[in-house]
Amino acid sequence: MSFSKINPKKTKSWLKLKEHYKQVSTIHLSEMFAADKNRSSNFSVGFDDFFVDFSKQRWTRETQQLFISLANELDLKNSIRNYFRENEFNFTEKRAVLHTALRSKEESVLLNGKNIIREVRDVKAKIKCFTNSVISGEYKGANGKKITDIVNIGIGGSDLGPKLVCNALKHYQNHLNIHFVSNIDGDHLYEVLSVLPPETTLFIIVSKSFTTAETIKNATSIKKWFVKNLEGEAFQRHFVAVTTNIEQAEEFGIERDNIFPMWDWVGGRFSLWSAVGLSIALSIGFNQYEELLSGAQIADKHFKEASLEENLPVLMAFLTIWHVNFFKADQEAVIPYSQYLEDLVPYLQQSFMESNGKNVDRNGEKINYHTCPTIFGGVGCNAQHAFMQLFHQGKHLIPTDFIGFCNPLKANKEHHNVLMANLFAQTEALAFGTYGKNIDNSFKIFNGNQPSTTILIKKLTPSSLGKLLAIYEHKIFVEGILWNINSYDQFGVELGKELSRGIIEKINENNEKQRESLLLNFYKN
Ligand code: F6P
Repeated sequence: MSFSKINPKKTKSWLKLKEHYKQVSTIHLSEMFAADKNRSSNFSVGFDDFFVDFSKQRWTRETQQLFISLANELDLKNSIRNYFRENEFNFTEKRAVLHTALRSKEESVLLNGKNIIREVRDVKAKIKCFTNSVISGEYKGANGKKITDIVNIGIGGSDLGPKLVCNALKHYQNHLNIHFVSNIDGDHLYEVLSVLPPETTLFIIVSKSFTTAETIKNATSIKKWFVKNLEGEAFQRHFVAVTTNIEQAEEFGIERDNIFPMWDWVGGRFSLWSAVGLSIALSIGFNQYEELLSGAQIADKHFKEASLEENLPVLMAFLTIWHVNFFKADQEAVIPYSQYLEDLVPYLQQSFMESNGKNVDRNGEKINYHTCPTIFGGVGCNAQHAFMQLFHQGKHLIPTDFIGFCNPLKANKEHHNVLMANLFAQTEALAFGTYGKNIDNSFKIFNGNQPSTTILIKKLTPSSLGKLLAIYEHKIFVEGILWNINSYDQFGVELGKELSRGIIEKINENNEKQRESLLLNFYKN
């Protein structure tokens, strides 16, 4: 077995944490800083080009030690070891969880006696060859013209990761224009297609299952639009697929050579490192794409080898559990101070909430504690002018990750300094508020004591982005282990899909009497 199945609330450390919480929760962050002049350095972790400041969190050394005892009781270290080799973490779907193999530098990772690294390298070689020829212009559209536009058709993990990375790394982008079609919203599809030249556009249908209703519907409509514009053999040169379901993709009309395989041991929301990232490789070129993967691999190594005291994903997960299960906070915010990271929050929402939004433990028992908090956020400074009033003077505890970069990408240091001054100011205002100051206007009092972590990174590069995303992926894993849940299935998304099929039938039928829902009646009439 790769993991323990213990209810965390039944451990000795949990009980001790409960007691410990009673003392720590009464101490203001200002008092913590006053009591320890070196608190900033004592609670910061350096890793490569990252500097992570945990000092503005409402915890102490003892909190960390108690969490480490909890992790030991729940066998976390052993689970981390197993996470990088054949495992049964996704036991409800009888699948291994091995997305880390996609960026591994090991020569061999075995699964059912087969070395999966070989297949991974074969697919990478195919990605390299294809992206090089599209970017260089050697690969031509049906009319002999060079490809100018790429459209990624996919949803959920087959959209959010590639979209986040392509937008985050725009600074490194080549001449290809990258578009994303995910929603089944026909209006959006119209908007995208209306500006695309079919003879120079390449469509990538990305669907692990190749059965996802939204993706197949969009792909089918796009295919119709395409063949109406360009007849004959053109379709074959303009459509490729990424999937585990080769048969279904072929049935759709994609040639086998144009199918980039993936595997069931890669969860959709962890798949940007696989051929699902084809749009990324096309957008920034294969070498930069490799840099992204190498960055993630450096974070993997850190997660595997660093002590729990210095282990970023572990410390970040401890904090989430501290906030959710002891402070009873039900939300977490992520605020990157970079417009390039505009799509980070939706990406994290899927990866965390689809993974850890669970109410049944690994024994199949209903659990009696909260799991994944709601994740929300937006880019700074915009967030300050939108929802952050509530952080400062609302009634909720909102633990926040602030993410910033030491250097801008376009050499505009003047703007960058103002941007970053705002980030630092927010962390201070949230932590200390007007604590200890004599304010006679109650409307202008800031209680402070809002916890935050600051993740400071030298520069936004493919490599640093890879590290950041892998750190969050591993945080999901640690939370799942400690909450005793399976982070790698997502049965919760099925019911709505099933119901929608029945509702579509009702919308399409003409029998007035059979329409029992007021909403449907209003919709149809
Ligand atoms: O929303 C459910 C889900 O299965 C996600 O986990 C996944 O990322 C998405 O749908 C898309 O699935 P597929 O890649 O199979 O089309």
